[in-house]
Amino acid sequence: MTQDARSTVYIETYGCQMNVSDSELMLGKLAAAGYSPVETPDEADVILLNTCAIRDHAEQRVIGRLGELKRAMKAGSVVGVAGCMAQRLGPELLTKARHVSLVIGPDGYRALPELVAKARDGERSVQTSFDMEEHYEDFAPRRFDKVKAWIPVQRGCDYRCTYCIVPYTRGAERSRKLDDVVREARQVVEEGISEITLLGQTVNSYHDGSADFAELLRAVGAVPGVRRLRFTSPHPNDFSDAVVDAMGEVEAVCEHVHLPMQSGSTSMLKRMLRRYSREEYLACVDRLRARVPGIGLTTDIIVGFPGETDAEFEETLSAVRAVGFDDAYTFKFSPREGTPATRMPAEWTVSDEVAAERLARLIEVVRAGAREKNLRLLGERREVLVEKPARRGELLQARSRDYKTVLIPGDESLLGQYLTVELTGTTGSTFTGTVVRARDPLPVAG
Ligand code: SAH
Ligand code: SF4
Ligand code: F3S
Repeated sequence: MTQDARSTVYIETYGCQMNVSDSELMLGKLAAAGYSPVETPDEADVILLNTCAIRDHAEQRVIGRLGELKRAMKAGSVVGVAGCMAQRLGPELLTKARHVSLVIGPDGYRALPELVAKARDGERSVQTSFDMEEHYEDFAPRRFDKVKAWIPVQRGCDYRCTYCIVPYTRGAERSRKLDDVVREARQVVEEGISEITLLGQTVNSYHDGSADFAELLRAVGAVPGVRRLRFTSPHPNDFSDAVVDAMGEVEAVCEHVHLPMQSGSTSMLKRMLRRYSREEYLACVDRLRARVPGIGLTTDIIVGFPGETDAEFEETLSAVRAVGFDDAYTFKFSPREGTPATRMPAEWTVSDEVAAERLARLIEVVRAGAREKNLRLLGERREVLVEKPARRGELLQARSRDYKTVLIPGDESLLGQYLTVELTGTTGSTFTGTVVRARDPLPVAG
């Protein structure tokens, strides 16, 4: 069976923002080939799962989902697995799941329409080669979000953190040309979006051969209509003075950084090959705070990495207290096949019980710190961008420049608007607020 005018596609995305952005590119590519996006898999001719391989749990979810889809998919439709798990497992996925007819890694999406057509003709295929030139420059992404836009500026990763699968699933680091990023930023503004997040695995190591990340921030920040500029995830080692200065000087750059710490212990960080010490991480935080007053800081932390002693874990807790993070994503170490961590001595293994206990303690410390900070913010005012209807009640979810979630009353006509709110209540992590100025008082930056 080949494609007809009514062919439909459904994409489900797992993992990080880079995957969300890739799904937008895939959907754009398939839309250009005549596919209409649909909201549920049971009505789709083509079902794609854009997968993540970062932890075993992420992969197990996809395996479970594939089982469900086998029962839910309509006769004649095809299932493809894309993204990092597809890259990691390749042809193995075809044997594991007989109803999967296409396996396609992050650098293969150019061939998507062709491979989907083949799949619909009954031919199963695997496309997992890396392409160092590929940035999908000519694709027109179909953005899922109408208020914020993700712009990928870098693909792959050249770090080799010993726990991490990403360098194996996304290949070597490469940056898009600054001019291409600026072109996309202009286009995003034309679509009516004023908040942009630049994406890369170590986004601040961006270098396109002539321009570095500081220059990129200045160039995108200068695009008329870009009112908020964010980026994720930076690596602590790549915060040059030039980058930190640009953050302080470019008005659009928001006062928030997601700065993965992973551990607060220098010996652990060494085993993780993070390439900074506890002191260097803390010094990076100090530099950011000095240059960007009031900056919100969030992080990623892993517990139970091989060899983690009680003393090392305590150092992580003390670093969390010392920094005072606004939030942290906390993970139990998950061994990933082929990564250096799996070759560490077996006696270094931290039991699941100990890791679970550490995770619970860490979450407590993160929450307590965030709560204390957030309570102090009550009564302050913030400019927020209204993002979406909140999950509960008649409220809207809005976000401040320093990345605080604020729930405010209002209807959907406020989506995409900038408001000034007073922070009136907090759960400890998110806020409730009242609108003190409904009209957007500022001219669009740029
Ligand atoms: N490129 C980003 C991180 C991408 S992965 C960076 O360098 O910061 C997102 C987070 O997942 C990591 O920061 C890390 O905390 C966590 N992570 C990565 N591999 C992991 C593993 N094997 N087990 C548990 N957590 C892991
Ligand atoms: Fe993984 Fe480290 Fe690269 Fe981040 S910097 S993607 S944690 S290898
Ligand atoms: Fe997952 Fe790949 Fe992102 S492994 S976290 S989807 S880069």
